[in-house]
Amino acid sequence: MSKRILLGVTGSIAAYKSLELIRLLRQDGHDIQVVATKNALRFLPTLTAEVFTGHPVYSDLFDPSCSVRHIDLAQECDGILVAPASANFLAKMSLGLADDLLSTLCLASTCPVLVAPAMEEHMYLHPAIQEHRKILAVRGVYEILPENGPLASGKEGLGRLASAEAIRNALATCLSRTGRWAGIRVLVSAGPTFEPIDPVRFIGNRSSGKMGYALAEACAQRGAHVTLVSGPTSLHPPPGVELKHIVTAEDLAISMNRAFPEHDICFMAAAVSDYRLDRPHSKKRKKDGNSWTLTLEENADILASLSGLKTPGQFLVGFAAESDLDHKKLLDKLRKKGADMLLANDISQPGIGFSSDENEITVIRPDGSCLLTGKHPKKVLADKILDEVEKVWRFPSRPFSGTVR
Ligand SMILES: Cc1cc2nc3c(=O)[nH]c(=O)nc-3n(C[C@H](O)[C@H](O)[C@H](O)COP(=O)(O)O)c2cc1C
Repeated sequence: MSKRILLGVTGSIAAYKSLELIRLLRQDGHDIQVVATKNALRFLPTLTAEVFTGHPVYSDLFDPSCSVRHIDLAQECDGILVAPASANFLAKMSLGLADDLLSTLCLASTCPVLVAPAMEEHMYLHPAIQEHRKILAVRGVYEILPENGPLASGKEGLGRLASAEAIRNALATCLSRTGRWAGIRVLVSAGPTFEPIDPVRFIGNRSSGKMGYALAEACAQRGAHVTLVSGPTSLHPPPGVELKHIVTAEDLAISMNRAFPEHDICFMAAAVSDYRLDRPHSKKRKKDGNSWTLTLEENADILASLSGLKTPGQFLVGFAAESDLDHKKLLDKLRKKGADMLLANDISQPGIGFSSDENEITVIRPDGSCLLTGKHPKKVLADKILDEVEKVWRFPSRPFSGTVR
């Protein structure tokens, strides 16, 4: 399918390879608009790029003929591919700097962004660049890994721009992902619930909401309509996502039960409190020298109640935060709750799960098959989870049509 691709070219010796890339992408039917950094213009045969693409090569943010070019370019394209991406440009993207046309439009865009780094091995392996790569991965930027081979310096090593064929395939994968999810309605719950004890105190948990927000963002980036029902978190809602706030498990149950029938896929990622106070106090209790006994009662099992509402074609994904990942127990749990997939993480492991930026998930399916994802930033994991859903869920030929309440 032909798309509008914004090809960012930066100041790497590999910039000349953009011409071969343009040729391949044009063969695939894509419309290519080149935006080059000032330093890239020293390497890029501009006239040839203009002839190959049929468009002028843009570089100047302050072009008097179009005062908001960065906004137009960012919004008109279906994908941004920065190839080659210099060390400097990766650092700028990671920091969110916007001091030229390409970096500014990268900030202004909401479409998928791919980067294909090209540089000397020592530059690529420098801890600064490794940090920037991680940050970009967390934000959902897709890196097309450089290859080992002869470098411009004459040495052999890691840092050579990926082949034009590999870049073309990575772009096709990203764009097709977006296509399949277009119009699919996804409901995601995220974050903790707070159960009031009195007007100032509550029972909460350590969930940061990061996994659910990452899933919501990944679905939106693939073109889905996403409703995110979130408990109290400090996170910013991902772009293009409809956000509903809840506080208690009861609020969450009401919101999810109401919204679920109008969605195709549901990720129940919220960390729902199992218990609430039987009778929350209407006034703040003051210290009086005595101990205080609270009576808790169980909250409803939201995942199980959603599975009771499930109609053919809907796909329900549950989460399990466990201190011991016993495959048989997890499979029993999945079947008992009637979910189509269970994503379990081991909360006893330091550095993953609640509040951390990384997680490691065991994906269990009703047929008993399971997959260990390995430890990744939550944004990377979200994409892996969506890839797993794609393998087992039959996407409707016509997207669900209903209205979100
Ligand atoms: C001959 C030459 C080749 C270069 N090749 C690379 C390269 O392959 N990768 C890279 O990250 N920087 C390379 N640089 C350094 C960048 O051009 C420099 O960091 C510049 O500031 C990048 O600017 P930009 O990111 O705005 O395009 C090269 C510099 C020169 C002079």
